[in-house]
Amino acid sequence: MSFQIPDGQEKSVYVQSKFSVIADRYDLFNDIITQGMHRYWKAFLVKKAGLKLGDSAMDICCGTGDITQRLSRAVGESGNITGLDFSTGMLKVAQSRSSAAESRFIQSDAMVLPIKSNSQDAITVGFGLRNLVNIETCLTEVYRVLKPGGRFLSLDMGKVNIPIIRELFRFYFFAIVPRIGKWIYPKETFFDYFPHSSLTYPSQKKLAGMLEDTGFSNVRYFNFHLGSTVIHYAEKP
Ligand SMILES: C[S@@+](CC[C@H](N)C(=O)[O-])C[C@H]1O[C@@H](n2cnc3c(N)ncnc32)[C@H](O)[C@@H]1O
Repeated sequence: MSFQIPDGQEKSVYVQSKFSVIADRYDLFNDIITQGMHRYWKAFLVKKAGLKLGDSAMDICCGTGDITQRLSRAVGESGNITGLDFSTGMLKVAQSRSSAAESRFIQSDAMVLPIKSNSQDAITVGFGLRNLVNIETCLTEVYRVLKPGGRFLSLDMGKVNIPIIRELFRFYFFAIVPRIGKWIYPKETFFDYFPHSSLTYPSQKKLAGMLEDTGFSNVRYFNFHLGSTVIHYAEKP
């Protein structure tokens, strides 16, 4: 447990550079550590976004574009999908797996969205919020950019309430997940960042409260695997 996450702006620089290092095998890592379950959670998230053909949506912290691609399918050719991430390496993979007609990708910090106010029907984020230096700043931006009636959905790790199960998950995330990462990328210490970044991430209830404080309504969340994974849903009134 000696791994230290850098503070403030240094965290941002660290996260941005390290995701670029692991970009080309990030999907494999994700498949192994979730036993493929991330596909199910992402499909659930996109379904809950309630998109129609021709809608506009954005996927922030889009990484390799896994959720972005699913959003593209939901809005069809007449829709507009934007994937946003600040890592050059992750965006390169995202661009290579989707055609220009499907989605556009922009490189930016998720705390400053270079997008018109009231323009998006939905905004999604997968395993992204916990990387941010300031989650509230991002939520305020998301709120600004959504149309009235627009939906925000976040998929991330959650807090498990049952003590023995919590310890089992803790063992898995702190002892096994970094080993899997180091097996894929020998000597890479970034995989210790993943479990440690969840320690300061808000609980299900706390994040729901933060969404309400930002102005969102109809806030709810869906727990998976006893709360170790969670999807938050919120609407802009
Ligand atoms: C764990 S990956 C998740 C990728 C993808 N959403 C998924 O679910 O597979 C987190 C992504 O967030 C991006 N990210 C982290 N902090 C960011 C920030 N401040 N602005 C933009 N992107 C950020 C990283 O570059 C990385 O691609």
